[in-house]
Amino acid sequence: MDLSTTYLGLSLPHPLIVGAGPLGDDLDNVRKLEDAGAAMLVLRSLYEEEITGEQMDGFTYEESHADSFAEAGNFAPEPTMALGPDEYLEHLRRVKAAVHIPVMASLNGVTPGGWLSYARLLEEAGADGLELHLYHAASDMAMSAADVERQSVDIVREIKRSLRIPVAVKLAPLLTAFAHFARQLDEAGANGLVLFTRFHRIDLDVIELEVIRTLPLSDSSELPLRLRGTAALAGRVKASLAITGGIHTGIDVIKATMAGAHATQMVSALLRHGPDHLRTVRREIESWMQEHEWASLNEMRGNMSLQRIPDPAAYERANFRMALR
Ligand SMILES: Cc1cc2nc3c(=O)[nH]c(=O)nc-3n(C[C@H](O)[C@H](O)[C@H](O)COP(=O)(O)O)c2cc1C
Repeated sequence: MDLSTTYLGLSLPHPLIVGAGPLGDDLDNVRKLEDAGAAMLVLRSLYEEEITGEQMDGFTYEESHADSFAEAGNFAPEPTMALGPDEYLEHLRRVKAAVHIPVMASLNGVTPGGWLSYARLLEEAGADGLELHLYHAASDMAMSAADVERQSVDIVREIKRSLRIPVAVKLAPLLTAFAHFARQLDEAGANGLVLFTRFHRIDLDVIELEVIRTLPLSDSSELPLRLRGTAALAGRVKASLAITGGIHTGIDVIKATMAGAHATQMVSALLRHGPDHLRTVRREIESWMQEHEWASLNEMRGNMSLQRIPDPAAYERANFRMALR
């Protein structure tokens, strides 16, 4: 059974990647993830504001997910505060020395500027790739969608000019013209597109008059949005495609692959069940493929993409009408 894939130009034995977040914070956990078969690891993000030294208001993750760590037995990364730029580099070096799998660093920012030169330091510290998380709240009424997109494309161009390692861009799902934006990033040289960011959940405490930010863990119901985005891009961009959000089971990975994904990232599932879940998901993929007589993931990749299904409208407007029948 051949699960191999190529993501960002790197040959991987299978598509199961540990996504950006606290899973890479602790060296013992990182080793456990490698032992359990992770194909690649993405470290948590370092934020533009952390590099420029600006005040960050509540950018670190709320602990709403802490309860579910208990289910993962002793695999319970403490929710940690974000690392500063120097600590981040040091941590990256340590992780690289601890494991053999490719390790990606992650930067989160919105404005082109001096902080981007930091990407070079990540490369020098040994990162095998860089994931750029270009999340923009876009609540500034003076900025158009085109302005926001231009900034992101400029960031990618500038980073690509200075780095040799591959660069993946992690996108938010809320874009006016998603496919066009993806094509611009592709043309700017992005080696991969990661679909899609999950937002913090916002609620209002109407007694204390506070905005409450939580980050609950996902489940597989988050996947369809990503399948649709991936299916729309598969075969139409040079960049590799990865899905983040809602990958919990072997069937989720099969669906992601059929939509066109080269890699699938997991965070919530591993926080909930621990690193051994990587083995479980891999077994599920293999037994499903055996049962349905698929020899490799490569032969099914993108077979249900927008370009290749007989009824592309199923992904788009017609879907609504049919669902209401
Ligand atoms: C506790 C926690 C911390 C996270 N930290 C980051 C981060 O630093 N950078 C980032 O790009 N995504 C971060 N994410 C988002 C994940 O990488 C991932 O995109 C999201 O959780 C959806 O995947 P999942 O359904 O497998 O959890 C974080 C998610 C969680 C739950």
